[in-house]
Order: sequence, then structure tokens, then C-alpha cells
Amino acid sequence: MSATQTDHRSDATGPLVAVTGGAGFIGSHTVDRLIEAGCRVIVLDDFSTGKRENLATWAGDERVEILTVNIADGIFAALAPVTARMGPISRIIHLAAQTAVIHSIANPLDDVRVNYAGTVQVLEYARASGVDKVVFASSAAVYGDVTESPVGENAPKKPVSPYGIDKLGSENFLYYYSTVHRVAATALRFFNVYGPRQDPKSPYSGVISIFADRAMAETPLTIFGDGEQTRDFVYVGDVSRIVVDACLSDAGDREAVNVGTGKETTINELARTVIELCGANSTITHAEARPGEILRSLAAVDRADTIFNFRAQVPLAEGLRATLDWARGWPGLNKTA
Ligand SMILES: NC(=O)c1ccc[n+]([C@@H]2O[C@H](COP(=O)([O-])OP(=O)(O)OC[C@H]3O[C@@H](n4cnc5c(N)ncnc54)[C@H](O)[C@@H]3O)[C@@H](O)[C@H]2O)c1
Repeated sequence: MSATQTDHRSDATGPLVAVTGGAGFIGSHTVDRLIEAGCRVIVLDDFSTGKRENLATWAGDERVEILTVNIADGIFAALAPVTARMGPISRIIHLAAQTAVIHSIANPLDDVRVNYAGTVQVLEYARASGVDKVVFASSAAVYGDVTESPVGENAPKKPVSPYGIDKLGSENFLYYYSTVHRVAATALRFFNVYGPRQDPKSPYSGVISIFADRAMAETPLTIFGDGEQTRDFVYVGDVSRIVVDACLSDAGDREAVNVGTGKETTINELARTVIELCGANSTITHAEARPGEILRSLAAVDRADTIFNFRAQVPLAEGLRATLDWARGWPGLNKTA
């Protein structure tokens, strides 16, 4: 190996962090950032939506261990041989979930099994194994029909889907494990996350990856309703930054923290920007509004700033450009921001 090549095997001594859902969209960016921060990582993923190619950078690297596990079945048995070799896990980032709200409505028991009981499986491991801290991927879905905008963390929680109910229930379990069992825990409520590696082919995908896919194919972009509904779109590089900071810091125990930009974008604006950035001739069509769709979603972002000194940095146009470059298969992207 020449002096300029990176030796992936030379520094296998940092803190050991388990990342459930680490092969997924947000998870794989989180793994990249943890390794950059000097950690070793165990990925637990059932590959239901996650992909090995998302972790291809770390193939054969002894700092990253990848386990195929369904968290709903418990994680003790899968981790035992690995921790015997790598040592005890110091922190857990729990991202694994059934992420489709529509699926949770059609299959509430499935959602409870993975997104609620699965969280308790992870917390039980943390308690029994003396893990120092758990960071959990919660969601703006815990607020449900929001009555205030921007929505602060103390706003009423009225989730309108099993997905939102199970995220909120998981937050309650985090609080319980922290107060009763002294497992420090932070819930991060993600708003609309976008960026490279988000799967545009999934029917449950984020609107940005779907719009990008359509615009690049020069096919029409369909907006449900009048398009004046707003979302707080936050780039995955910003999200992975606060996830890793929350994991490695001792701040934020028993806190739930919004992760957004504090800026709202209408779906009409988004569609126009995507078409423009693609240089596409796609048209915009409007379909009937989806019943129950939330009209405004905007995060209050002060708590993230106060606790983790976090402000989202990537402007929408820049994040969209990186996402589109990735979708076109262009190299040399700023993928983690
Ligand atoms: N993307 C967003 O905008 C957004 C918004 C709010 C919350 N979240 C939350 O962030 C987390 C990550 O979401 P994402 O967008 O990266 O989605 P994703 O589907 O890319 O990631 C989820 C990962 O969990 C894995 N997984 C699913 N069920 C599992 C199981 N039973 N056992 C083990 N692994 C399992 C999947 O294979 C995948 O790798 C999820 O908890 C999601 O609910 C995401």
C-alpha cells in the first residue's frame, strides 16, 4: 500500500456503536459519519429496505460488522459472538423501522411488532448490557394534526397513524428506560429527510426522490391537492450529523428534539425547483388531495440548537443538486455534507 492510500484496517479501537437500520438511507450516512468520527460500528439490519451497496465503502473493513437481524426477534443472540470479539457496545443508534405510514395503517400489528416492540427489544439489550446511550429515530408524525406552526417539541401529540403512535410509544419507552434503568436516551424527531440513497422506486418514498425520478425521465410530476401544503425538508447530511453528535455527546438525555431546517417549502415550489435543476420539460399535474394529509409541517429548531449546537446547514437547492447528481450516477458528490 502506498503512503497516500487509506488503510481501513489501521484504527480499529474507537467506541463501539450499534446502528440498527444501518444499511438504510439515513442509517448508511450515519455509519459513514461514525467511522469518520473514529468509531467502530455494528450494523443490525434485516435488509427489508436497506441495501448492502449503501455500505459498499466499508466492505472488508474490520471497523464495520454487518449482521442480518430482524430486531423484532431480539438482538441478544446475534450480538453475542460479535461483542465477544469486538468488546461491549457503548452506544446504540436505533433507526430500524417499518417506515411506510400507509403500510402501518393497513398492517397495524406489523407496525407494532417492528416499530414499538422492536424498540423495546433494543432498549432491553441496552439495559442488560450496560449501554451508555440510545439515540432513537422518531418522527414529526408524533404530532399528527398539528395546530401550531412552527411546531415545538411540547406541542400536543395526536398521531393519526399506527406509525406515529408507535414512534410516540417508543419515545415513552426511552424515557422509562432512562429514568428507571439509567440508560441515557435521546429521541430525534426527523421531519422530511431527503438526499442520496433514498429509494425513488419505493411507493412509500419521499416526495423528492419521486419527483427527481420523474423529472429525469421527463415524465409528469403529480401533486396531490393544490400543492400549497408545506414540508420542512432536511438534507440527510445534516441529519446524520445531529444523529452522530447526539450519540457521542452526553447531552440530551430524556429529551425529544426536532430535526428540521425551520424553513417550509410548498410542494409546488419543490416540483418547480426539481424540474429546473434537472433542465427537464416535465409538466406538473394535480390529483385529488389525499384524505388526512397534513397541510403544514415546519419544525421549531431552537431545542436542537440549544442542546446539540445544531442548525441545518445545507440549503434546499444544494441538497437537491447533490441528490440529483447521485440519482444520475455522477461521481464526486458531496454526499454527507
Ligand atoms: N426518511 C424520513 O424522512 C424519515 C422521517 C422521520 C423518521 N424517519 C425514521 O428514520 C429511520 C430511518 O429511515 P430511512 O428513511 O433511512 O428508511 P430506510 O427504509 O432506508 O431505513 C430503515 C432501515 O431499517 C431496516 N429495517 C426495517 N425493518 C427492520 C427490522 N425488523 N429489523 C432490522 N432492520 C429493519 C431496513 O432494512 C432499512 O435498512 C426510521 O426509523 C424512520 O422511521 C425517517
